[in-house]
Amino acid sequence: MNKITIAIDGFSSTGKSTIAKQLANYLGYVYVDSGAMYRAVTLYAMREDFINDNSFNVEGLVSRLEEVAISFLFNETLGFAEVYLNGENVEASIRTLEVSSFVSKVAAVTEVRKKLVSIQKQLGKDKGVVMDGRDIGTVVFPDAELKLFMTASAQTRAERRYLELLERGDKVVYENVLKNVQERDYLDSTRKDSPLVKAEDAIEIDNSHLSLKEQFDKVLNIVNKVLEDK
Ligand code: DC
Repeated sequence: MNKITIAIDGFSSTGKSTIAKQLANYLGYVYVDSGAMYRAVTLYAMREDFINDNSFNVEGLVSRLEEVAISFLFNETLGFAEVYLNGENVEASIRTLEVSSFVSKVAAVTEVRKKLVSIQKQLGKDKGVVMDGRDIGTVVFPDAELKLFMTASAQTRAERRYLELLERGDKVVYENVLKNVQERDYLDSTRKDSPLVKAEDAIEIDNSHLSLKEQFDKVLNIVNKVLEDK
């Protein structure tokens, strides 16, 4: 059967990666977490002190972008590809609230986006890919056969994220997680370059009140229809 491209966009913590991984496993497609790439560049910027609580040296980061190599390696045990920064597995280090607090600023830099979008297009050139992010259906794969736009209330998303961080052993306060979710919503949807918007032809899925199984069944129905129509 001919493979398609599935683009999944939406605000942070709307469960994009969960449904993307489920679909990729079910269809035997490659899953690419584009947010992990922006997080990895952010980690690099933090380590090199280009970004901290008080300042962001955009020129400094841009001048060193050539040194930043982002790649993915499939982890058989986990069943998905983990992100690597200059050969180091940074999958765990990029999920902290600290990285989350800087990532939207880094993701607003045009040169960063250019570099990562070009890698993303390359990863999806043979189709058979499920990619999630903010601009996948609008910029990276505007011709994707299926585009989903995930939504849920900010409170629902902050609760999910809070529980995830607690489970990892991070000491976080719910109000700070909610604040981060709301700030990122604002920054991601108002930035000049490739803001988060729903593509005209995307199907919106509000999962505030859907269980994981209900969501998967609903999305699978949509996927099967697209595959049948092809
Ligand atoms: O999906 P995530 O929360 O891990 O993404 C982290 C940040 O990266 C998010 O706040 C916005 C940015 N991002 C982006 O600008 N474009 C993408 N395609 C993916 C993520």
